[in-house]
Amino acid sequence: MTVPIAIIGTGIAGLSAAQALTTAGHTVHLFDKSRGSGGRMSSKRSDAGSLDMGAQYFTARDRRFVTTVNQWQASGWVAEWTPSLYNYQGGRLSPSPDEQVRYVGTPGMSAITRAMLGDLPVTFSCRITEVFRGAEHWHLQDAESQGHGPFSHVIVATPAPQATTLLAAAPKLAAVAAGVKMDPTWAVALAFSTPLQTSMQGCFVQDSALDWLACNRSKPGRDGALDTWVLHATSAWSREHVDMPRETVIEHLHGAFAELLDCSMPAPAFSLAHRWLYARPAGAHEWGVLSDADLGIYACGDWCLSGRVEGAWLSGQQAARRLLEHLN
Ligand code: FAD
Ligand code: NAI
Repeated sequence: MTVPIAIIGTGIAGLSAAQALTTAGHTVHLFDKSRGSGGRMSSKRSDAGSLDMGAQYFTARDRRFVTTVNQWQASGWVAEWTPSLYNYQGGRLSPSPDEQVRYVGTPGMSAITRAMLGDLPVTFSCRITEVFRGAEHWHLQDAESQGHGPFSHVIVATPAPQATTLLAAAPKLAAVAAGVKMDPTWAVALAFSTPLQTSMQGCFVQDSALDWLACNRSKPGRDGALDTWVLHATSAWSREHVDMPRETVIEHLHGAFAELLDCSMPAPAFSLAHRWLYARPAGAHEWGVLSDADLGIYACGDWCLSGRVEGAWLSGQQAARRLLEHLN
């Protein structure tokens, strides 16, 4: 019997590792505490259509990632997004066009991870709470006290704070993960029955509670009758208001948006707020992957490189490569 490799987390890092390992002929089994894949790249289905509440777009700078994104584009999972970009600083809104190529999943950000997952074996709604090594193999336990295993290796592909406890069998790795601070982000979606009168489709914001906002409907492949907008608060504002009730967060960020557009904005026909507790690592690292190859346990994710989609994908690739190197 083939003993599979366990991968905890079906964000882009875990799926990147899963793809590289299955391509090399290995069997994997993925676990995620959520009901679906994608993690911070997932999109939310709502009355206003699919909404990208986490990652808004991504850029590709590393040659290997560029090649992969081109393949995704050829498969129809991603498309270029060319928003009319603005910058808001010191109370002034000004156009801020640039040459940067930006990609989004189509018809939603989650299309990418859903396609990467394909029919790989996965257990959803399963929060892993313990990872331990038996005499020969690895075993996992979930929050329902259910055991899973045996596994030949384990790849932990969760944000650093959630990885710390899962890495207890490798205390050195756990200590590195424990040292990574991740900041929260409050995200709000607003949908209007009458389109807002602005040519802005994306905006980098300074000197405000907001950090970024985008017209979700301006992305390729998004339809629906309503004019949908996604607003992200800054790390500082989100940290300070981390326990604020959702309705109050919506009110505040809606107000900041109206101030930015300098208009009396209509009440939204639909609104929702999502709190990402571990949205972005406070700094960048160059670890690529954390590993104890002799034990057979690895940790990857955006926090091992840059806190971006590209960093997470590259980290997953490195986890797979490190594991395969040790086998050969
Ligand atoms: P995640 O996507 O967080 O995946 C980890 C998975 O592990 C999750 O699915 C989670 O449910 C699961 N998990 C955690 N603990 C457990 C457990 N105990 N048991 C089982 N499963 C578990 N990047 C960009 O490049 N461009 C952007 O515009 C951008 N905007 C962003 C905006 C926001 C609001 C946020 C939150 C992030 C944004 N990012 C952006 C960052 C980007 O989304 C991340 O870098 C990337 O998606 C991280 O992928 P990952 O696989 O490392 O982690
Ligand atoms: P990018 O190159 O578009 O943006 C990088 C940064 O450059 C932006 O944050 C912005 O400050 C600046 N910038 C880029 N183009 C600009 C323009 N036309 N006008 C004014 N400023 C501009 O994309 P990259 O490097 O792939 O970064 C990903 C994005 O994801 C960043 O904006 C980052 O802030 C965001 N992100 C947000 C997270 C969150 O939790 N809210 C988490 C991780 C990433």
